[in-house]
Amino acid sequence: MVNRPIGVFDSGVGGLTVVKELIRQLPLENIVYLGDTARVPYGTKSKSTIVRFTLENILFLLKQNVKLIVIACNTSSSMALEEARNYFKIPIVDVVLPGAKEAVYATKNKRIGVIGTPATIKSRAYEREIKRLNSSIKVISKPTPLFVPLVEEGLFYSAISLKISRMYLKDFKEADIDTLVLGCTHYPLLKPLIQRVMGKNVTLIDSAEQVVYEVKELLKKEKLFNRSKKKGKHKFFVTDAPENFLKVAQHFLKEPIKNIKMVNYGL
Ligand code: DGL
Repeated sequence: MVNRPIGVFDSGVGGLTVVKELIRQLPLENIVYLGDTARVPYGTKSKSTIVRFTLENILFLLKQNVKLIVIACNTSSSMALEEARNYFKIPIVDVVLPGAKEAVYATKNKRIGVIGTPATIKSRAYEREIKRLNSSIKVISKPTPLFVPLVEEGLFYSAISLKISRMYLKDFKEADIDTLVLGCTHYPLLKPLIQRVMGKNVTLIDSAEQVVYEVKELLKKEKLFNRSKKKGKHKFFVTDAPENFLKVAQHFLKEPIKNIKMVNYGL
């Protein structure tokens, strides 16, 4: 039971920002990652589609015999968490609440910016969670959809990425925020660039660390920590040709990926 893997999914490479932190903090755990690269991006799609993709991804991971699921996608977390928890009994960790908690903890001037996919921003999930934690905080949100394809293409430091960042983040610079939530798991890959545009006085919130903290709490509560003494195995699945995913994943995780397979589980 305890040596079963942790299942993690995202629409593409973004969830690897959570995987990297999982590997760092829980090196003995086995991990199965699913990147739904055939259907990325999720963030521009409707709620019913996002719910369907999310449930299908969880079903696929359950077939891999996982012991816990991490929805390493803000779009799925903000649009389909309730449905996922209603359908499945397995413990599920999302990425929105951990990010909101960290942002509330970080802000001093009580002005928080949130960037995410159109679906995440439309759901107002961050605003809701932040206000629930502290109702006096002002939240300013904006969708920044082009960041996802830039990351999928591996354009982390290019001139075009810088130009797009300047365009998207202009409003936040004028809004006097001291904290900016990277409300999409793809965005931490653009962190150096976003930090450069926002300046060093703005704290960027990448929820990965807090997400892994919640994973640890759940593993403790459910007595599911892997007790093996060996380093965990990491297995990757993608729903489209793996070349692009591999390129970005190996660059970001800084480890060679041998165990990767293309799968097709849709209808
Ligand atoms: N990485 C995802 C998120 O956190 C999804 C991006 C997308 O597919 O649009 O929202």
